[in-house]
Amino acid sequence: MTSSTDTCSRRHVLQLAAAASLVTALPIASAFAQTSAAPLKIGTIGAGSLGAAVGTLWVKAGHEVMFSSRHPESLKDLVESLGPKARAGTVAEAIAFGDAVLLAVPYEAYPQVGRDNADALKGKVVLDAGNANRSSLYAETQENGIGVTTAKYFPGARIVRAFNAANNRLFTSNANRPAPRMAIPIAGDDAKALEVAKSLVSSAGFDPLVVGSLRDADKFAMGTDGFGHVLPVADLAAKLGVAAPATP
Ligand SMILES: NC(=O)c1ccc[n+]([C@@H]2O[C@H](COP(=O)([O-])OP(=O)(O)OC[C@H]3O[C@@H](n4cnc5c(N)ncnc54)[C@H](OP(=O)(O)O)[C@@H]3O)[C@@H](O)[C@H]2O)c1
Repeated sequence: MTSSTDTCSRRHVLQLAAAASLVTALPIASAFAQTSAAPLKIGTIGAGSLGAAVGTLWVKAGHEVMFSSRHPESLKDLVESLGPKARAGTVAEAIAFGDAVLLAVPYEAYPQVGRDNADALKGKVVLDAGNANRSSLYAETQENGIGVTTAKYFPGARIVRAFNAANNRLFTSNANRPAPRMAIPIAGDDAKALEVAKSLVSSAGFDPLVVGSLRDADKFAMGTDGFGHVLPVADLAAKLGVAAPATP
C-alpha cells in the first residue's frame, strides 16, 4: 500500500529530478542560471560547523533552508544573519520542510536519528555528509562501506554521499571561486537523487563529480587518499580513478 507520505516524497523527487535533468540538458552557462532560477526547499539535520556552512551557501544561492537543532532557539543568530530564506526548526520540522535534506550530525547519532525519523525520511533525497572516523560505528563503516552503512540506518531514504570530503572552512572559502571551481565528490545508488545532488552541489558553488555507487563512496572517505582535496573536477577525477564529466 502507498502512503500519502510516500506519494508526496516521490512527487518531490520527480520535481527535483525534472529540474536537474533540465540542468544537464542545457549549455553550461545557462545550466547554472537554471539551477539558481529553480530554488528548492532544503532541510538540514544538524546545523553545526558543516550544516551551517553548506546551508549558508544554499541560502546565498536562493534556496530556502530550514536549519535544525534539538534546540532551534540556538540557531536564532544564524538564521537572522541569513535573512528571510533561512529559518530554524526541530529536526522533524526540517525534514518535513525539505524537498531535499542535508544530513550533518555526528555519525554516532545516525542509528538514533534514522530510527526517530524513519517514516519522514522514506523517499527523501538525503545528502549525507557524515564521517565516521571518531565514532563507535567506524569499524562497521570500514567493513561494509560508509555509504552502505548510512543506507542501513536510513532505510528507504535516497542517500547520496556529498560534502563529507573536506573541511567546512574549505567549502566556505572555495565556493563560487572563478573557474576552475572546486570539485565535490558524490556517490549514490539512486540516479534521480544523484541528479538532485549534482544540482545542489552546483548551486552551492562547486562542480559535482559522480564517483559511483554508495559502495564507491569509500574512495573519498575520511582517512583515504581521496579525501580533503581542493581540485578542479578533471584533476579530482584522475585522483579518484573515475571518468571526468564531459562538462562540469
Ligand atoms: N565540520 C566539518 O568541517 C565537516 C566536514 C565534512 C563532514 N563533516 C561531518 O558532518 C557531521 C557534522 O559535523 P560538524 O562538524 O558540523 O559537527 P558539530 O559542529 O558538532 O554539529 C553537530 C550538529 O549535529 C547536531 N546533533 C548532534 N547530535 C544530534 C542528535 N542526536 N540528533 C539531532 N541532531 C544532533 C547538533 O545539533 P544540536 O544543536 O541539537 O546539538 C549540531 O547541529 C559529522 O558527521 C562530520 O563528520 C564535518
